[in-house]
Amino acid sequence: MRSHDSVGWWRSAVIYQIYPRSFADGNGDGIGDLAGVRARLKYLAELGVDALWFNPWYASPQADAGYDVADYRAIDPVFGTLAEAEELIVEAHALGLRIIVDVVPNHSSDQHVWFRQALAQGPGSAARDLFWFRPGRGAHGELPPNDWQSIFGGPAWTRTAGPDGTPGEWYLHLFAAEQPDLNWENPRVRAEFEDVLRFWFDRGADGVRIDSAALLTKDRALADFDPADPPTADSPGQHPYSDRDDVHEIYRTWRAIADSYPDPRALIGEVWLPDAQRFANYLRPDELHTAFNFAFLGCAWQAGALRAVIDETLAVHAPVGAPATWVLSNHDVPRHVTRYGRADTSFNLEYRQLGAPTDLALGTRRARAAILLALALPGSAYVYQGEELGLEEVEDLPDAVRQDPMFFRTAGANLGRDGCRVPIPWSGRTQPFGFSAEAAGDSGAEPWLPQPEAWKTLTVETQTGDPGSMLELYRAALAFRRASSALGDGGIEWLPAPDGVLALGRGSSFACVVNVSGEPVALPAEGTVVLCSGELESGLLPADTAAWVLR
Ligand code: NOJ
Repeated sequence: MRSHDSVGWWRSAVIYQIYPRSFADGNGDGIGDLAGVRARLKYLAELGVDALWFNPWYASPQADAGYDVADYRAIDPVFGTLAEAEELIVEAHALGLRIIVDVVPNHSSDQHVWFRQALAQGPGSAARDLFWFRPGRGAHGELPPNDWQSIFGGPAWTRTAGPDGTPGEWYLHLFAAEQPDLNWENPRVRAEFEDVLRFWFDRGADGVRIDSAALLTKDRALADFDPADPPTADSPGQHPYSDRDDVHEIYRTWRAIADSYPDPRALIGEVWLPDAQRFANYLRPDELHTAFNFAFLGCAWQAGALRAVIDETLAVHAPVGAPATWVLSNHDVPRHVTRYGRADTSFNLEYRQLGAPTDLALGTRRARAAILLALALPGSAYVYQGEELGLEEVEDLPDAVRQDPMFFRTAGANLGRDGCRVPIPWSGRTQPFGFSAEAAGDSGAEPWLPQPEAWKTLTVETQTGDPGSMLELYRAALAFRRASSALGDGGIEWLPAPDGVLALGRGSSFACVVNVSGEPVALPAEGTVVLCSGELESGLLPADTAAWVLR
């Protein structure tokens, strides 16, 4: 695998996202782990994906499911050991699968040694300068230093207390209080993360996914929001902590590190920005290689909207020479089978619509069409674990089992993200559906989140060999995509099509036709249908169906 074809592999790759807590549980404690992943590597290789991105697997108190990192070089015992991670990387490579690890540079955990030292050493210490500590406002420092709000709800500041309980300085956390923001003006922070990159690259990681990539640098004035121009979901560029120009020099340094390896390693950014042009700035030739395309993930199931997002995506990537990415779901958003089954099929961070009426059959039908569209578009694509099974968002989790800090910090007003993180059903007719290996002498723990009973029809075992299943559609599409030189990186051409229908050509012989019109249509591209997300009806492509055609 590590040959000349490794150069620029991210330009065409299909990357499978593994949420380790929920993928497969090898030790029977009800929580997914590295042993579980290793036991399923063959499944992933046979699925036909090219790379695996792991959500954080580091030592962590798990206040935000591992995005609160206590040690960037250690594996959390709940998942396994560093030796197991190293073995996993070797085994994955042997199966032709590349590995991407999640790097979380905006914040650490409050249990990270640096933060504990900062608390212990007190105001003015060098240890505190690694974070953003400030005195409070008000006569007794009882008010937060500014009016910033946490992205998870509530204030973005928490007050410290001395050993005797005396209130002290406040520290900044854009997410949960257990996730103190690091001060990227401090050279030690920069040096530390450069070393963390090398640590994982030296262990064979083929790339990193950079968490909250646009948030790292802050204006040290830490001023209040401009009351005349408060930040909104549509203009976070106005946040004094988002998308500042000085963040780019960090990625130029990281790029030099990634490119210094004989087989260059991918830098993949999580860049949530509504302004496509500012998003593309992160993809300049000496910065990140690719970034998640949240515009596509949030796009409504409407032909005009989809075409506009595709055109804009390609237009902003072209000048910087970066490949586009296509993402339908991830661990932070409602699963797209559910999203596509609602009256409003769009998504944005402020607008999760949890509990909205959902037609799952319709959502599934559209999800089948959507993956054929995503895999036909130029660039790389992401598959979030379980989407290949057509899993829906689990919206009726009891409050008592919820773990997402978003739920707690909004006092339940925002149900949060647990519903897309429910453990994968592998086999059998009852929970845990093969998720947990049976622990010796133990009846096995409950999965950390309960699985819907209806998932007995969605297990890998049930779907395997069923030509109408979501899993077999993914397998067929991924196999075709891999074998086709027309797909992956490259250009597209829009073909003439009736209203409400997207028809795109790749190369001289491939076309993808997606019917979003609501009515059956004649296929606008003549040729042989090699894959279809539903049955043709009297030669017509039904509504909410996509076909791959060889012209
Ligand atoms: C983005 C991650 O995808 C999300 O899961 C996490 O909660 C935040 N960043 C904070 O790290």
